[in-house]
Amino acid sequence: MHLMFFIDIAQPSWLERALILFAQLVFMAYYFVLYVVSPKTAHRMIHYFEEEAVNSYTACLAQIEVGEIENCPAPGLAIDYYDLPADAKLSDMILRVRADEQGHADANLTFSEGFD
Ligand SMILES: [Fe+2]
Repeated sequence: MHLMFFIDIAQPSWLERALILFAQLVFMAYYFVLYVVSPKTAHRMIHYFEEEAVNSYTACLAQIEVGEIENCPAPGLAIDYYDLPADAKLSDMILRVRADEQGHADANLTFSEGFD
């Protein structure tokens, strides 16, 4: 869903969309193999990715706050998904996305610890 929110904002070309799809397919194949070989490592890797996403969203919120990034209206998809007010802004959406990512980071750390 997060990717769909940002695609809605960025409106990538069909070539860019194809590259996104290709990258997802490559990652899916890589992650499948990694998970078969070492599920603990796979969950731990996602934990670190999600932690980095939290840091990135925090940095993005700081850029919005100082005006480096326009605090545009949140996409309708995000407003519906998170039940945000109709006048919600990008920063409102990012706060919810960041909270999701923190939850994913915590869950994947817990899952990785289940393989000790
Ligand atoms: Fe996530």
